[in-house]
Amino acid sequence: MSSIEVIGGEQLKGELKIQGSKNAALPVIAATILNKGISVLKNCPKILDVFHMVQILEDLGCAVSWDDNTLIVDSRQASVTHVSEESVRKMRSSILYLGAVLGRFHEVTIAYPGGCSIGARPINYHLNALKKLNVTQEFLDEDEKIIHCHTDRIRGNDIFLEFPSVGATQNIILTAVYAEGTTRIYNAAREPEVVELCNYLIEAGARICGKGTAFIEIEGVKRLHDVEYSLPSDRIVAGTYMAAVVTAGGNVVFNDVPVGHMESTIRILRKTGCLIDIDGSRVRVVARRRPNPIELIRTQPYPGFPTDMQSQLMSVLCKADGVSAIHEQIFEYRFHNVNELRKMGARIELDNESNKATIYGVKSLHGALVKAHDLRGGAGLVIAGLAAEGTTVVTEADSIERGYEDICRDFGVLGAKLRYCSDNEQYMMKRHAIDAVQ
Ligand code: UD1
Repeated sequence: MSSIEVIGGEQLKGELKIQGSKNAALPVIAATILNKGISVLKNCPKILDVFHMVQILEDLGCAVSWDDNTLIVDSRQASVTHVSEESVRKMRSSILYLGAVLGRFHEVTIAYPGGCSIGARPINYHLNALKKLNVTQEFLDEDEKIIHCHTDRIRGNDIFLEFPSVGATQNIILTAVYAEGTTRIYNAAREPEVVELCNYLIEAGARICGKGTAFIEIEGVKRLHDVEYSLPSDRIVAGTYMAAVVTAGGNVVFNDVPVGHMESTIRILRKTGCLIDIDGSRVRVVARRRPNPIELIRTQPYPGFPTDMQSQLMSVLCKADGVSAIHEQIFEYRFHNVNELRKMGARIELDNESNKATIYGVKSLHGALVKAHDLRGGAGLVIAGLAAEGTTVVTEADSIERGYEDICRDFGVLGAKLRYCSDNEQYMMKRHAIDAVQ
């Protein structure tokens, strides 16, 4: 497990390009199984989650290669219909292979993903929807961990989603691409990452209408073809780095920002009093004083404020000049950072019943030994460390590498002092932190 050491107190300055989008890349990588040909995916981020999805493609029989940030997938020889339990345990998004493998082979065996650190995360919407597409499902083991789905033909149908789940919408689309007839999804997720999946599939020859709306219609086709596709930049990485400037202070220009996907994030960050100047995909963020508090922010499905930006915003508000509140409405346990930030001097009250945090801004945070419980939580702690006085060590930082190509390189370019630590150094730092407490 790697750690990140951050020496806080530097204002951020300079210019930085935003990497390709993780959540757009993952479903598109799964979808490459469907075209039975070559997919060239440009601007693909080199992050752990992508490497993991690529490993599964190889396990399924695809040939995969990289050319800089372009991922080339040849799925002609794919033949395996089993996604291992180990793969799904490593990364929940492997569940996107449910729809992709089923769509191509009319059969898939895949582990049932368990809960994770941010919530129970069941897949009932996915499975209920597949039943409506004439897919039979049975567990292969007593513990009901391995599920086998099969069908003689996928038949289009009308599907009403109880909640606009991103993953369920994507799995339905993946399954329905080769269906007989038309599939209609009501209350579909409107996230840009659903739109990206549709765009990739349309480029490959699929017939899909209504992307980006709550009503998506997929007319089954007989075949797809080779495709070249450019993935967008990552709206959450862009939001994370912008939040860092607001917390630590500074003046930074970000290039390749997917501004069109970030309306709610930009609106909320502006409320803190920073300047955000937009010129196409080039965005300057200037923050010169303590952030203003924000009365109440609710996480919501797109186009609302994203749950994936909640931890980073909490770090911003820890230093605000007043009281703010966050209501997490998407996941049940996404407030692990509260305890970690308290170690850094933050004042936060948590009401677990209503899933609401009240943040009493403090003038300054101080360095501490803190733990990354999940990907975005870890990024939130790095941000807090940049703005804190003294040294912060974020342990279990591997989870950050799931979604950020190199967070130390990126903040380093902006003048911050931070680095990955070796196991030995981590041990010494933990020892010092324990000594300091005793
Ligand atoms: C995706 C994103 C994740 C983001 C989330 C919400 C990817 C790879 N991941 O995750 O980064 O935080 O959207 O924007 O794009 N639910 C059920 N039953 C289901 C499916 C979902 O109850 O069958 C619940 C979940 O537990 C959660 C909520 O619905 O509370 C939203 O989940 P969903 O939109 O499906 O998120 P993911 O696709 O897993």
